[in-house]
Amino acid sequence: MSRHKNTFHNHQPIPFHIPHLTGLEVPRIRELINSGNLRSDGKMGKACKQQLEIILKTDRVLLTSSCTHALEMAGLLLEIGPGDEIIIPAFTHYSTANAFLLRGATIVWVDIDPNMLTLDLEKTTRAISANTRAIVPVHYGGISCDMDQLLTMVRDMDIAVIEDSALALGSSYKNRMLGSLGTFACLSFHSGKNLTSGGEGGAIVIGSENYLRHAEIIREMGTDRADFHRGQLSEFSWQGLGSSYVMNELSAAFLTAQLEHESVIRERRLRLWELYHTLLEPIEASGAARRPVIPAWNGHNAHTYFIRTDNRKSLQDHLLSRGIETASHYPALPATPFGKSSPRFFSPEPAVHAESAASSILRLPLYPDLTEAHVTIICREILGYFGLKHDRNCND
Ligand SMILES: Cc1ncc(COP(=O)(O)O)c(C=O)c1O
Repeated sequence: MSRHKNTFHNHQPIPFHIPHLTGLEVPRIRELINSGNLRSDGKMGKACKQQLEIILKTDRVLLTSSCTHALEMAGLLLEIGPGDEIIIPAFTHYSTANAFLLRGATIVWVDIDPNMLTLDLEKTTRAISANTRAIVPVHYGGISCDMDQLLTMVRDMDIAVIEDSALALGSSYKNRMLGSLGTFACLSFHSGKNLTSGGEGGAIVIGSENYLRHAEIIREMGTDRADFHRGQLSEFSWQGLGSSYVMNELSAAFLTAQLEHESVIRERRLRLWELYHTLLEPIEASGAARRPVIPAWNGHNAHTYFIRTDNRKSLQDHLLSRGIETASHYPALPATPFGKSSPRFFSPEPAVHAESAASSILRLPLYPDLTEAHVTIICREILGYFGLKHDRNCND
């Protein structure tokens, strides 16, 4: 591999991520404060719920304090306990596993598809046992495994499907929205996501009416306070196990401002994603590195643009020296200190593709305030690093 000496270095540093502001956040927060009522699930919470239900084409969304907490709610709703097995891709966020470990379950790691980086469904079939209670497909970068195949696989088995949709708001599968297909789906509005509630935030989508009341109780510290607030009860009482999983109204005010611009933000991100994909074609053609693979069944939300290279550290250092911040992503969880030491993990087969993704993914800056000129500069630096030609003028 040859290092190309690039003389262009007169741009401002390009951060890996800048949360996008729509300009409506402060007015919505001011409106909330002026209303004198900060109670959760108020005007702002209701607005977010409605906006999300329109986007997801579902009518059972509950806002939560994070996706982590939405996943924990899924564990509580299914009454997961010791002896239960939860199938999870080996390449995911810690919270996907923690939520069920907290309930005493055993985590069964399954490898990912080497191209799509989603749960490998052949290996998933082989990992199912009499103790399997749930499978958690993670929609990495807003793309999914073949959800019809997965849902058909579990149809007669009393196994729940919990979509980890932390990264997937606005993505679809065969024209149905990701986040509306499983028994539950968990969404994130952390500041690094396409839309944010101003820091931490999330939502759980309840796939069936049968779970809704229980979900409301779990989310309100085990009480029927939601019924009380709707005026259906004169007082509320303790009904069962729960925690404080409700999104605070200040976060909801921030989020509603973002949701109002959801399609504009997604389209802007998609334009930048496509530009990366076009400009970086030579790295794939030359065999220097790989680009993301989007299956035909997905309409994706451009959550992330990454390349995969065996020279990640060296390329990352090179880009940083040119003022461009990039990021790796999840570790392969079975290879982490906890993953290696806990008796509550089980890998029926080696997670070789998860390990490969963990060591090779380099995420590039992608956010609405990035310009086409920034993307062109970044691609020029990457192509230069690999000794490849670029044919766009980057001096704009
Ligand atoms: C796949 C996945 N699941 C869950 C989470 C946790 O989300 P949150 O930070 O909203 O708790 C993340 C965070 O990035 C994630 O990537």
